[in-house]
Amino acid sequence: MEAALHATALADTPFVTEVSRHLLAAGGKRFRPLLVVLASQLYADAAPADVVKAAVVMELTHVASLYHDDVMDSADVRRGVPSANSRYGNEVAILVGDYLFARASSTVAQLGTEYVALQAETFARLVQGQIAETRGPAAGEDPLAHYLSVVADKTGSLIAASAMFGAMVAGSPREVVAALAAYGEEIGLVFQLSDDIIDIASDTSGKTPGTDLREGVATLPTLLLGASEDPADARLRDLVSRPLSDDAEVAEALAGLRAHRVMDDARAEVERRAESARAHVAVLPPGEARDALVALCDTVVQRSS
Ligand code: FPP
Ligand code: MG
Ligand code: MG
Repeated sequence: MEAALHATALADTPFVTEVSRHLLAAGGKRFRPLLVVLASQLYADAAPADVVKAAVVMELTHVASLYHDDVMDSADVRRGVPSANSRYGNEVAILVGDYLFARASSTVAQLGTEYVALQAETFARLVQGQIAETRGPAAGEDPLAHYLSVVADKTGSLIAASAMFGAMVAGSPREVVAALAAYGEEIGLVFQLSDDIIDIASDTSGKTPGTDLREGVATLPTLLLGASEDPADARLRDLVSRPLSDDAEVAEALAGLRAHRVMDDARAEVERRAESARAHVAVLPPGEARDALVALCDTVVQRSS
């Protein structure tokens, strides 16, 4: 799969190849490919070449979205290396994100029209989730409900599609594909909620801590804080209610949040969601692959990078 990823990212010029392999070469968890592979192993008859193609489509779509995301978030570091935008500039980063999506599209075409259709629906959800994040909640909309729907669209959709792709290449029955879709949506939510906690809590994530605070992007811990009426939290509430450009304010907000009970409350919510993801595997055929899908819920809850 790694060889196929790098081969699919090849371009007509050494420069485009270099930029399109930049984040692939930096590493990453390969979480979406892992889900494709595990879901495909619930039944024995998936063709290995199709599993690899499905995994490549999901990872390249994800990586393409990261090239764009880091431009939108003005992020300097990704996967422990300079982001594509900080290394090559915004224009090249955006266009190479498009290039990677084109390469993913040409691979998905080899799998068949039902894969193309799911890929297209997923892309539509990714983009709309991102637009909803950028615009923020509408007047009168509950900010927490808005946040959860953003997360479902911008992250849950692709993770659910990964689990579905794995099931589809294995020729799984419809109810198995549906259960994996529901599992993927939930574990995707858990994955992004953990990611948002990591943005505050971790100094070893390969990304710059406090990026969401700088961008003024609301996340579960800051939304929980926003809902508290404790006067002792007034200063911290003010800091998280607006984008922060001052390094000292970012440091103050990070320190305040790290010591605050909202971090524990956010982690408890992540655990509740993980339990709901685990529940969806009950209808899947028992065996090693199903056990691994259950264990993956623990890994996602506990991850720190
Ligand atoms: C990460 O969120 C960003 C996303 C999950 C996707 C955003 C979607 C797009 C940019 C549109 C898709 C475009 C293509 C070409 C497929 P984050 O900023 O919260 O996560 P981070 O902490 O990893 O930066
Ligand atoms: Mg980002
Ligand atoms: Mg973002």
